[in-house]
Amino acid sequence: MKPRDYDLDALWLPFTANRQFKSAPRILVSAKDMHYMAEDGRRVLDGTAGLWCVNAGHCRTPIIEAIQRQAETLDYSPLFQMGHPGEFRAAELVAALAPAGLDHVFFVNSGSEAVDTALKIALAYHRARGEGHRNVLIGRERGYHGVGFGGMSVGGIPANRKAYGSTLGRVDHLPHTHDLEHNAFTRGQPAWGAHLAEALETRIIALHDASNIAAVIVEPVAGSTGVLVPPRGYLEKLRAICDRHGLLLIFDEVITGFGRTGRAFAADTFGVVPDMITFAKGVTSATVPMGGVIVRHEIYDTVVNNAPPGMVELFHGYTYSGHPLATAAAQATLALYHEEKLFDRVRENAPHFENALHALKGVRNVVDIRNFGLMAAIELDPVAGKPGARGFAAFLKCFELGVLTRVTGDIIALSPPLIINRAQIDELVGTIGGVLRGLD
Ligand SMILES: Cc1ncc(COP(=O)(O)O)c(C=O)c1O
Repeated sequence: MKPRDYDLDALWLPFTANRQFKSAPRILVSAKDMHYMAEDGRRVLDGTAGLWCVNAGHCRTPIIEAIQRQAETLDYSPLFQMGHPGEFRAAELVAALAPAGLDHVFFVNSGSEAVDTALKIALAYHRARGEGHRNVLIGRERGYHGVGFGGMSVGGIPANRKAYGSTLGRVDHLPHTHDLEHNAFTRGQPAWGAHLAEALETRIIALHDASNIAAVIVEPVAGSTGVLVPPRGYLEKLRAICDRHGLLLIFDEVITGFGRTGRAFAADTFGVVPDMITFAKGVTSATVPMGGVIVRHEIYDTVVNNAPPGMVELFHGYTYSGHPLATAAAQATLALYHEEKLFDRVRENAPHFENALHALKGVRNVVDIRNFGLMAAIELDPVAGKPGARGFAAFLKCFELGVLTRVTGDIIALSPPLIINRAQIDELVGTIGGVLRGLD
């Protein structure tokens, strides 16, 4: 390995144990298709599509060329009170992929910004309707909605909240649906647990009153806390309760969007249509940061038509909302998904992925395996008194053996690029199995 020509000290790494990392860094220097190249020359199979985002595979030529062409043509244009063709084209393409009725797109730069934007749109919508008192936001335990103050507040991960006392005040949380006693080793959607959605009505609406609640936000499949697949009928129940009480339903599809569940959005896969969808990651296959919110036309019309003519209707936006490089990358990425039929490919390969994973049942310390589309989790029994230690040891060993996984506590999460083939699925799962068999 060549000596490093940079120092590790100045950088504060995100969501990383900095001291541990800097004592034994894991550095990736290049990537192509399904593989990373590590600093020491090892090829590493990408079992996580980076961070659930490189859905088209790495360094795909059509996307790279589109970004290069755009950088030479229009590097940046002001995005408030001005426009450029790429942002309109990209919005049209995203809206065309969304369920019918969700047809207006607001661009941002990340999943966190998408979530905070959706929450603000929900509040602005109710206010425009003359119901500004609807301002309570409902999330779910074990939900991850990014790290902005809105997303952190509706999120349900204690570690992400506890250092920052000032989460939003008017927030409540549904119970999560993770239950090993009833659902361990379920393939696809668990049969048990739809009733947990009823807490929205029996506990949350009963406490706050529907007239005060603006919106409910959930990930259709919770990703970051370990691939929690919605029980059969659960999302349908949430939709019905929201409809009965005039609450907006937001699906955070930052992970599930753009093919991960075998269709453009999990809303299609599960046949439940929300009022807003947040997206990011896969929209550009992570080549350029981008995110957004897709809204029902009633929401757009209400906010826009209730403002006086000539006035800005929504006082919200980012310097880079609809950045030319991002919209060029999005157009090329969405074209590639279409040309290579990558969402169909997920549905074709999902049974193989599922069978390979569930063959690990019975392996030492494995207490659950769950999967949906091309996302899966293997949950391990924690070492007594050392939560997360076994998961992290598995992650390190897999990386050493040339396979990138992601761990959240003692849960190994998998979400490979959608281009993965069956031999690579076998390699990914086989390596993890070997590692788990060898771990204490
Ligand atoms: C469901 C969900 N929402 C929001 C986010 C935040 O996205 P970002 O890290 O781009 O801000 C993530 C990130 O993983 C996510 O999984």
